[in-house]
Amino acid sequence: MVILGIETSCDETSVAVVKNGREILSNIILSQDTLHRRFGGVVPEIACRAHLESITSIIDGALGDAKVKLGEIDAVAVVNTPGLIGALLIGVTAAKTLCVALNVPLIAVNHLHAHIYANSLEIDKIDYPTISLVVSGGHTTIFLSESETKHIPLGATIDDAAGEAFDKVSKILGLGYPGGPVIDRIARRGNPEAVMFPRSYLGKDSLDFSFSGLKTAVLYHCRGQDLKTTGLRKLPEREVADVAASFQEAVIDVLVDKLILASRMYNVRGIQLGGGVAANSRLRFKLEDKSKEIGIPLYCPSLRLCTDNAAMVAGLAYKMYLEGNVSGLDVEAVT
Ligand code: KG4
Ligand code: ZN
Repeated sequence: MVILGIETSCDETSVAVVKNGREILSNIILSQDTLHRRFGGVVPEIACRAHLESITSIIDGALGDAKVKLGEIDAVAVVNTPGLIGALLIGVTAAKTLCVALNVPLIAVNHLHAHIYANSLEIDKIDYPTISLVVSGGHTTIFLSESETKHIPLGATIDDAAGEAFDKVSKILGLGYPGGPVIDRIARRGNPEAVMFPRSYLGKDSLDFSFSGLKTAVLYHCRGQDLKTTGLRKLPEREVADVAASFQEAVIDVLVDKLILASRMYNVRGIQLGGGVAANSRLRFKLEDKSKEIGIPLYCPSLRLCTDNAAMVAGLAYKMYLEGNVSGLDVEAVT
């Protein structure tokens, strides 16, 4: 079964063609980073316009790369939630149009569940249940995953997402957008113990997260308690690396500790990561270590499948289709 997947939930326009839920025939990802860079974050109106301008040519490109004709598509999958409403609407409308024109079923996919499925694109067999963490620019959510399609939320951020904290701290340090990859790189040269930034645990057994206090602590550290330093005092390169490493360590300590806590609480057979921040090298390293300690495997998608992409959408849609989970054309985009 050949499924065309569409993902436009945030600032990547992506279309993929995937066969039988595993075989990626094509996966085009058009990043809008250059459009949003000078604003230090995603501007929803700019994102929507860029999706609109590129979606049809990316659909053509994905079909071309896959060497599949439109008539050979068996179903169309699209992320309909969660994400920026205007951005989602463009993908959903494109998908519905294709379904009507081709007379094929529509499968509406949850963006976060698709991030978890990115692991199944590459790993033959994952033993369930797992604890799964989707950690991206918009979300930090822990799930108890009972299968590839069944995910029960256990906790989430009560303020900023982890990726958002990376992006904002990068802006404070003058490192540009998106912040995750650059902080990951620069932190390798810094001392993670140079500054003891706060770690917010929100209570002993809580599986919720909070990163806004940490972001503010970095801001005060760089600009002084009274924020009087106008603009940003130019920190020496060494200090930038130390602040980046110390901030990153604070985020990662909390993510790792909560994942291990949840794994113990629910006695699971593995941990799955997904979302842009899952690409973080320090997170992968520390979590690998800790999951070995408690004797369960850690699954991380390869770097290109961590960030937003449509292959994970078309892949998960195949599993949903097998379970009879097909949408009507009245399905809506939900923020
Ligand atoms: O999943 P994604 O592509 O889009 C959303 O659904 O948000 O994630 C993008 C986020 C951005 O905040 C970016 O800074 C972060 O993922 N990110 C990283 C790394 N690569 C991307 N954060 C930390 N370390 C990285 N290596
Ligand atoms: Zn995402």
